[in-house]
Amino acid sequence: MSDDLKATLERTVAEARSALEAVQSLEELERLRTAHLGRKGSLTLLLRRIGSLPPKLRGPFGQLCNAEKRELEQLLEARRRELAALQLSGVRDFDPTTPGLRVSGGHEHPVLAMRREIEDIFLSMGFLILDGPEVETEYYNFEALNIPDHHPARDMQDTFWIETGPESRWVLRTHTSPMQVRAMERFGVPIRTIVPGRVYRNETLDATHEATFHQVEGLVIDRGISVGHLKGVMAAFLGELFGRNVDVRLRPHYFPFVEPGFELDFKCAFCGGAGCRVCKQTGWIEILGCGLVHPHVLRAGGADPEEYSGFAFGMGIERLTMMRHSIEDIRHFHSGSLRFFEQF
Ligand code: FA5
Repeated sequence: MSDDLKATLERTVAEARSALEAVQSLEELERLRTAHLGRKGSLTLLLRRIGSLPPKLRGPFGQLCNAEKRELEQLLEARRRELAALQLSGVRDFDPTTPGLRVSGGHEHPVLAMRREIEDIFLSMGFLILDGPEVETEYYNFEALNIPDHHPARDMQDTFWIETGPESRWVLRTHTSPMQVRAMERFGVPIRTIVPGRVYRNETLDATHEATFHQVEGLVIDRGISVGHLKGVMAAFLGELFGRNVDVRLRPHYFPFVEPGFELDFKCAFCGGAGCRVCKQTGWIEILGCGLVHPHVLRAGGADPEEYSGFAFGMGIERLTMMRHSIEDIRHFHSGSLRFFEQF
């Protein structure tokens, strides 16, 4: 019996020692300690069996067991210090010049980044930045802007109508211009504001036309505002945005809510004006409509056209972003393609 116990003790201690040599971490070390010295550890169980030995063997076997136990405890403690020191020295050897792991984070959508840049420039010129509803009434989207029902100008913007009832007709706003009258109603005149936001059109999609895109509306109303102010503000804005003089042109254009009205074009950055698919062979890309606010619109906003005049503009943010980054197709913006977005 005692020989059996002695052999078991020797085997257990030998196993524990060889396992100890293989231990590489503090966690493994703790598991080893529990396996041999814990409440149900192999050595602990052996010590419990001493009571079943003949009395004269209990003393010497108990001493042997305790000596082995102490030695194992010392070995475990020595290994613990070694491992702890290794961990620490790992920290001490940290080399701040080695390249770190690259954490891939998200970033702003290029259209949002452009919107923020536009906002910054107009903020610096003292413009108020307003927000407006994307689901809009027929009144603000059309009528208040001098576009009565059945007016052919309604066809200029293919509209998504929202079916509600015969009484009220709602639309997904086709432009940010409804905010002209809303802003005048809310803040009165004089006023100087821009309204960035999403707009919707029932369009046939192509390289420069999306069904949902972004515009920035601009509105300045005061006494004595003229086309000169409009041109000056547009030139200052575009110069600031592109950091250089850009080739632009103003063309007379009809919008029911301005008189006179213009379209402002950029020289196409893709072909340098020679004509290509992006500019539909014209050499120019249209980015904004503008003009002097029509007296009917001033009146709808509660301003007296005899006393006040103003200019307004509406530009496409996607088109500006395309020019900035030489993006040849507007549909990339909604593609969700990381290969596209990671370039910005
Ligand atoms: C308007 O929406 C007028 N509300 C602009 C305006 C405001 C004129 C104030 C006068 C005074 P237009 O439909 O041309 O106009 O659109 C304005 C700009 O939005 C265009 O110059 C273009 O840059 C952009 N845009 C128009 N349609 C699309 C489309 N389908 N996809 C992407 N951008 C578009």
